[in-house]
Amino acid sequence: MCGIVAYIGSKPALPILMKGLKRLEYRGYDSAGIGVLNSDSASIETVKVVGEIRGLDNKIKEAGTTQNSSLGISHTRWATHGEPTETNAHPHLSVGGKIAVVHNGIIENYAAIKKILLSEGVEFVSETDTEVIAHWVSRFYKGDLGEAVLEALKSLEGAFGLAIICRDEPDTLIGARRGSPMALGLGDDEIFLTSDISAVIEHTRKIVYLEDNDVVKVNRAGFTIQSIENRRTVSREMQQIESGLEIAQKGDFPHFMLKEIFEQPEALRNCTRGRLLLGDGNAKLAGLDSSLRELRSIDRIIITACGTSYYASMVGEYLIEEWAGIPVEVEYASEFRYRNPIIGTNTLVITVSQSGETADTLAALKEAKQKGATVLSICNVVGSTIARASDGGVYLHAGAEIGVASTKAFTAQVVVLSLIALLLGRQRRLSHAQGIEIANAINSLPNLVEQTLKLNDEVLAIANCYYNSTNFLYLGRHYNYPVAMEGALKLKEISYIHAEGYPAAEIKHGPIALIDENMPVVVVAPKDALFDKIVSNARAIKARGGKLIVVTTSDCSPIDEFADHIIHIPAANPALTPVIASVPLQLLAYHIAVLRGNDVDMPRNLTKSVMVE
Ligand code: G6P
Repeated sequence: MCGIVAYIGSKPALPILMKGLKRLEYRGYDSAGIGVLNSDSASIETVKVVGEIRGLDNKIKEAGTTQNSSLGISHTRWATHGEPTETNAHPHLSVGGKIAVVHNGIIENYAAIKKILLSEGVEFVSETDTEVIAHWVSRFYKGDLGEAVLEALKSLEGAFGLAIICRDEPDTLIGARRGSPMALGLGDDEIFLTSDISAVIEHTRKIVYLEDNDVVKVNRAGFTIQSIENRRTVSREMQQIESGLEIAQKGDFPHFMLKEIFEQPEALRNCTRGRLLLGDGNAKLAGLDSSLRELRSIDRIIITACGTSYYASMVGEYLIEEWAGIPVEVEYASEFRYRNPIIGTNTLVITVSQSGETADTLAALKEAKQKGATVLSICNVVGSTIARASDGGVYLHAGAEIGVASTKAFTAQVVVLSLIALLLGRQRRLSHAQGIEIANAINSLPNLVEQTLKLNDEVLAIANCYYNSTNFLYLGRHYNYPVAMEGALKLKEISYIHAEGYPAAEIKHGPIALIDENMPVVVVAPKDALFDKIVSNARAIKARGGKLIVVTTSDCSPIDEFADHIIHIPAANPALTPVIASVPLQLLAYHIAVLRGNDVDMPRNLTKSVMVE
């Protein structure tokens, strides 16, 4: 969601803040703002814009903002409270402009606090919960910003990642965290404070992650961290980030999304490298090494996730049940956290999250741990909150994913789940020979995806026929039912066309009423055990005038006789076909969105990681 970058040091802060914001823009892009301390006039100068960061650049120039400030905060916003207007953009100032705040998260009791402040005569200018923080901190300010923040935050409920400066303290930057990530980047005579280290990694690789309820007081000589709960000083280890966080560039691609779709062969190679024991027919996952004995005794698995990660988890359900014979349930994290889930002593919970920061998934993880479950996580972002809060886990190693619509992370999640399913299967019912067959099938996926990408032009031609459609249906069965769901989600996210994914056989129970000549229907029908069944489902659509776009393998007669369009994907192990079949659906969504003139990397109303409920 929103992104924060703040700086204190000896260099001009503005260029550092602007560059950092650009790196974080994919996390929120409805408005943005900066606040820098002008020591000469003892004032905080703020500049805000609605829309993208490049607009902020121009506005800063027009405003003649002080260029020599070496203390500043900045923010890119994804609106929660109040529309994306300039007034609602961050930073927010206290009355008189003494204190400036940028904030990620949601203050749940902001209305109660606002009421107190209103009764004391404070005048509000925005509709945000963040403005409440600025006034609330100011209320406790007695000459020491750090103390005021510690005092003020005691009574705030909800989630926050904060960066705060004060007009009267040119050598102070305050950060705080509860439920929304924040980290320090330590340079020579300079310190960065950010919600996402990709914003500062080009300046320093020395990172200190804040923990929940930490308040950090930073000045040019160093920093101290105190707990909001008891004010005790706490120490947080510095981590040297070695690699894997290279700065994402679009290269020759027009969009990050297309680049990430085409990066999939490489991402999957990185994801499987060193993890497949082809001779043993097994998987070796370092993050699970210490839990191998424990994994042997689990008798039930709950996988919990949101969005695209949820659909990858659904594929995981099929794979684990098929290969390991362990019952699996997949549940939306937002539901899991508020149900009263039954977790037995041998239940394993797996959370799946590309960003490792999704609030609902994190809350589900905490609920599972509360109930005594061992929790493993599958994350892409190394060092993310969910990864660190888990008992063990497996990183995707898919590289930074910037496009808001997830692509390479989805296929990598499915691959990691297939590795886990293989490992659990080999502990149970898979023979050596079966293990070898599956390990080889997983190993062949990067090359098969590479071949599939050659279909790009064909998919573009199909997109040209349907980009004006107003509805789409996506159908699949068995392993490819989640592929249909994910295909529909991709289209919705970036093209804004209404699309639904369905298990193909279900459409006769309702959705078939929607079919007419204006309804394109994407059917994922590889030649597998259910091919004949899905052919019948496709015939029923054709008979009602629907336009059939069929994703299938070669030798697909008789579906090629009546389909309007055929996309031939290479054949894979049927259980792993989701990795291959999802690629043309990603491309279809991408091309349709581009043809409609949408910004595919920053689709309206969405954000890369949702750190609010
Ligand atoms: C947001 C993104 C989706 C993503 C979902 C879960 O809604 O827009 O693309 O699938 O969050 O994110 P996670 O990082 O937990 O996988």
